[in-house]
Amino acid sequence: MASNTLTIIDNRTGKKYEIPVNNGAINASDLRQITVSEGDFGLMSYDPAFMNTASCQSKITYIDGDKGILRYRGYPIEQLAEKSNYLETAYLILHGGLPTKPQLEEWSYNITHHTILHENVKKFIDGFHHDAHPMGMLVSAVGALSTFYADAKNIFDPESRKKQTYRLIGKMPTLAAFVYRHSTGMPYAYPDNDLSYTGNLLNMLFKMTELKYKPQPVLEKALDVLFILHADHEQNCSTNAMRGVGSSHSDPYCAVAAAAAALYGPLHGGANEAVLRMLMEIGSKDKVPEFIKRVKEGRGKVMLMGFGHRVYKNYDPRARIIKQVADSVFEVKGRNPLLDIALELERIALEDDYFIKRKLYPNVDFYSGLIYQSMGLPMDMFPVLFAIPRTSGWISQWEEMLLDPEQKIARPRQIYKGADKRDYVPMDKRK
Ligand code: ACO
Repeated sequence: MASNTLTIIDNRTGKKYEIPVNNGAINASDLRQITVSEGDFGLMSYDPAFMNTASCQSKITYIDGDKGILRYRGYPIEQLAEKSNYLETAYLILHGGLPTKPQLEEWSYNITHHTILHENVKKFIDGFHHDAHPMGMLVSAVGALSTFYADAKNIFDPESRKKQTYRLIGKMPTLAAFVYRHSTGMPYAYPDNDLSYTGNLLNMLFKMTELKYKPQPVLEKALDVLFILHADHEQNCSTNAMRGVGSSHSDPYCAVAAAAAALYGPLHGGANEAVLRMLMEIGSKDKVPEFIKRVKEGRGKVMLMGFGHRVYKNYDPRARIIKQVADSVFEVKGRNPLLDIALELERIALEDDYFIKRKLYPNVDFYSGLIYQSMGLPMDMFPVLFAIPRTSGWISQWEEMLLDPEQKIARPRQIYKGADKRDYVPMDKRK
């Protein structure tokens, strides 16, 4: 009779073990009973880069990478992109259910009324070099917020967590806009509470001398949809950093700084910037076949940026929606000339055996950079624009980790392959 266990026979000793299987997984700690001698540490599982290891149980985001499905708290991403807005989606991610009207009003009010930064924050942003990468500035600035809110260290106080949540979601757009204005040498533009979350971000990025900034509705909506699509993506590199750093009970500002630092890399949230640089390097549509050839010959050394995903082995559902958003933005701002190169890359790659065999499809970053560029933002701001909406996902995952009785400080094991014990050699005896 089938039972929910795994039978293991250790051929080193001939011993047999029954290991429980729950939710399609064995508990790695159950392997420790498998020993060859007394004093043996016990069997471990070896899984560099967490290719097949679940590090938590989560109720937040569901992905089926083979079918190209993404859901937040059970709601399909397509429905949220069409019917929700970013603040409502952030509420959903953090609270587990859609808000009632009064709940959404209170939530939006509280986020909107936590957008202003302490004036001293401007002083250290001023200290950055004029050509500092905005993501480096954002990482530093959000970490520095920890020094302004001493109450943030009370991580097991639900009221304190709620306050830091308002502050982080409210202030990320302000930090992002301030680092952008610093790069361009423009005076900082302050938040406008009359505007929506993304309308206010556009205000703080682009306001000139007008008394009241009026966001372009199509761009405001496009940014809002992009923010919904980027709000959470379960246990990716930056979320793992958020949970890992948070597991030592650091305050949430320091943990978000760590998560944003992880997001910065070109293999993760920095890919949207890398995609644009790649499209510019290719230069024209007729050069696409030559570039694809280089990627194939490069075998992992030359990457088709914005393609491939650890989890999606099908079209990234976010990329599909982003393509529609791109069309709406191009209607207002004019067609991005790099779009033709991107479309040609996608067309050729989707027909090519190299990409088909490896199940490489466009990911969320393939088209998002084209939209941001058309909105008038420089490439090095793209990862910053990713970090703003992902903050709600990071906080939600952090809180889930803190309240999970099975979680402890994150501390992987290693397989030591270094030198065996040896004696210190004095300088004059070294070769
Ligand atoms: N271009 C060319 N070849 C690729 C690409 C790519 N973009 N991505 C993967 N491959 C190849 C690898 O070389 C490897 O080939 P091999 O089997 O011959 O060695 C095979 O596909 C499998 O790739 P892995 O690196 O093992 O896949 P992994 O899951 O570790 O990496 C990742 C996923 C990091 C996203 C990778 O696909 C990549 O670097 N893509 C480009 C960067 C990018 O767009 N990142 C954004 C991801 S979305 C996000 O983070 C928001």
